[in-house]
Amino acid sequence: MCGIVGYVGPRNAQEVLVSSLRRLEYRGYDSAGIAITGNGRIGVRKSAGKLQRLDDVLAEQPLTGNVGIGHTRWATHGVPNDLNAHPHLDSSGDFVLVHNGIIENFLPLKEQLLEEGHRFRSDTDTEVLVHLVADEYDGDLIEAVRRSIGRAKGAYALVVMSSREPGRIVAARMISPLVVGFGEGETFLASDIPAILPYTRSVLVINDGEMVDITPDGATVQTMAGEVIEREPMEVSWDAGQAEKGGYPHFMLKEIYEQPGVIEETLRGRLQPDGTAVLEGVDLPDGFVAGLDKVWITACGTAYHAGLVGRDVLEKALRIPIEIDYAHELRYRDPLIRRGTLTIAISQSGETADTLAAGRLATELGSRMLALTNVVGSTLSRDAADILYTRAGPEIAVASTKAYTAMLIGTYLLALRLGVDRGTVTRDGAVQLAGELRALPDKANRVLRMDADIAAIAGRIAGIDDIYFIGRGLDYAVATEGSLKLKEISYMHSEAMPAGELKHGTLALITDGTPVVVVLTQSHLYDKTISGLQEVKARGANVVAVAYEDDTEVAKYADHVLRIPRTIDFLSPVLSIIPLQLLAYHVAKELGHDIDMPRNLAKSVTVE
Ligand code: F6R
Repeated sequence: MCGIVGYVGPRNAQEVLVSSLRRLEYRGYDSAGIAITGNGRIGVRKSAGKLQRLDDVLAEQPLTGNVGIGHTRWATHGVPNDLNAHPHLDSSGDFVLVHNGIIENFLPLKEQLLEEGHRFRSDTDTEVLVHLVADEYDGDLIEAVRRSIGRAKGAYALVVMSSREPGRIVAARMISPLVVGFGEGETFLASDIPAILPYTRSVLVINDGEMVDITPDGATVQTMAGEVIEREPMEVSWDAGQAEKGGYPHFMLKEIYEQPGVIEETLRGRLQPDGTAVLEGVDLPDGFVAGLDKVWITACGTAYHAGLVGRDVLEKALRIPIEIDYAHELRYRDPLIRRGTLTIAISQSGETADTLAAGRLATELGSRMLALTNVVGSTLSRDAADILYTRAGPEIAVASTKAYTAMLIGTYLLALRLGVDRGTVTRDGAVQLAGELRALPDKANRVLRMDADIAAIAGRIAGIDDIYFIGRGLDYAVATEGSLKLKEISYMHSEAMPAGELKHGTLALITDGTPVVVVLTQSHLYDKTISGLQEVKARGANVVAVAYEDDTEVAKYADHVLRIPRTIDFLSPVLSIIPLQLLAYHVAKELGHDIDMPRNLAKSVTVE
C-alpha cells in the first residue's frame, strides 16, 4: 500500500516525480523518496515522514536529470525511517528500485544474497528485489527484472532503473496497481491515474502478470514470458482540477461538498422516464435475473457500510435472500455461493486485496461477479463479468465520503434495474423511486447548509472518550458509516449499534454527558428508535439526532437536531450520512488532526 511513480522525458524529473507523489500520498505517507539518473550516476534522496520532509531534503540537495522513479511508503516490513524508505539501491549503486506490495519469500532470498556478498542497508522485503536484479543483470534490464520476478513470490508493482541503461525504466505488476501515461516525447508510470493527470490523459492500465519497458518514445508491454502485447491506451475524462483542493482547506471537505454533483453524475443518463435503469456495463444474460436465487455482497470498510444499505435495498426490491460479508472474512469461509448467485463486490479503488480475493473466490464457485467501483480499469473492474461505475471522480482524502454516496446511488440503480426485470418492483414504484432519486442532488445541497451548526456541535463533542451511533434498519447502516468516519479521523472511540441492541449490554456505558448520535428517518421504526433514545436520555446522554425537517417529535428527546429534507425512507441514507460526515470532519478539525491523512491508515489497502 504505497505509491510509485516513474518518468522519462525532457522535463526536470524531480519536479514531475514530487508532484505525482503528492497526488499519491493518500496511499501511504510514512516516508518518501526519489531516485534520478543524471551524468551516468543514480542520485537518491529519501526521508522518513510526509512528503514535505522530502521536499526539505531536496531543497538542500536537489537532484538533476530527466529520468527517475519515486515512492511514498506505508510500512509493512521495517519501521518507517530514512533507511527503510524507498528507493533502494543494490550494492554497486547501479540499480535502483521502488516497490508496492509484499515479497513473501524475502527472508530465504536475503540469506542467499547475503551469502553471495550483497550488502543490505534496510529491513525491508523490497530490498531483496534490487539485489536480485543486479544479480541477474547481463546487459538487458528487462531480462534481469524478468528473471528476478521468477525468484520472488508475492504481490508487487515494481519500477526499476539502472545507470547502465539511462533513458529506460522497467516495471512489472502482480496484484498491486500500475498505469502508464503517454505524453509528447515523454512517458510516465504511476500507481493510479490521478497521479499523472496534470501531464496526460492518455493512459494504459498494466494487468497482473505484465511487464512494461518505457522510454521517452513510449512503452512496450510484455507478458512475464516475454510475449509482446498490443493494447491501445484509453483517454480518461477526469480532469486534473478534480484532484486538487479547489480552495477548500482539506480534500475531505471538498469531497463532502462535491456530493450533490456526484449523485447527479452517477445518475446521469441512467434513468429512463418510465423509471427503468439503463446500466452500461451490466450485461446480464437472458433469464439470469429471473433465475437469481441469491445476491452476495462483499466489501471492506466504508464500501461494506454502503453494502449494508444495499442489502436492505436489494432485499426489498428483489425478494430473494441477500447476504453480505466482509471480504476478508468471506475469502476464508466455505460460502454457499454458486451459479444463480450474483456476487456484488463493492470497492471505491477496485484494488482492495481482500475484495479482489473474495470476488475471485465467488467467480471460482460459479457465481457471476458484478463490480461496483469508482476506478475505471481497476483490477476489480477487469475481474468482473459486469461493472457499474460510480462516477465520484478521484477521491483523495483517506476518509471516504463521496465514494460512499456514489455507491449508495449505484445500489439504488441496481435495485431498479434488477427489480423491474424480476417484476418485483412495479412500474409505478420504479417511476416514483426514479423521481425521488432525481431530487436528491438539490436536497443534498440543502443538507450542506447545516455546516456551521454542525461545526458548533462538534466543538462540544471533540475529545470526549467514547461516542455511540445508533439507528434501526437503514438508519443503523448509516450509523455504522458515521461512526467509522468519526473514529478514523478524530481517533475517538466510537461504536455503532442497532438502537434495539443497547439494552442488551452497551447501555451500561451511557453516563452523564456521553454523546449519542441517533439517526431517525425510518417511519416504520420511528417509535422503536424513540424508545431507544429515551433509554439513553434517561442515563444522561447528550443526544444529537439526524431527522427529517418536518419531525415535530424528536426535539423533545434530543439536545441537538440536524434536520434533513424529507425523501422516501428507502433513500434517506444518501442525505442522513452528510451531517455525520461533516460532524466527523469538524471534530477532527477541532482536535487539530491531519484530516486528509489520518495516522496508520492509507487510502488503498492493496495488501492482505
Ligand atoms: C474509510 C475507508 C476505508 C475503505 C476500505 C475499502 O473511510 O475509506 O474503510 O472504504 O479500505 O476501500 P475500497 O472501497 O477502495 O475497496
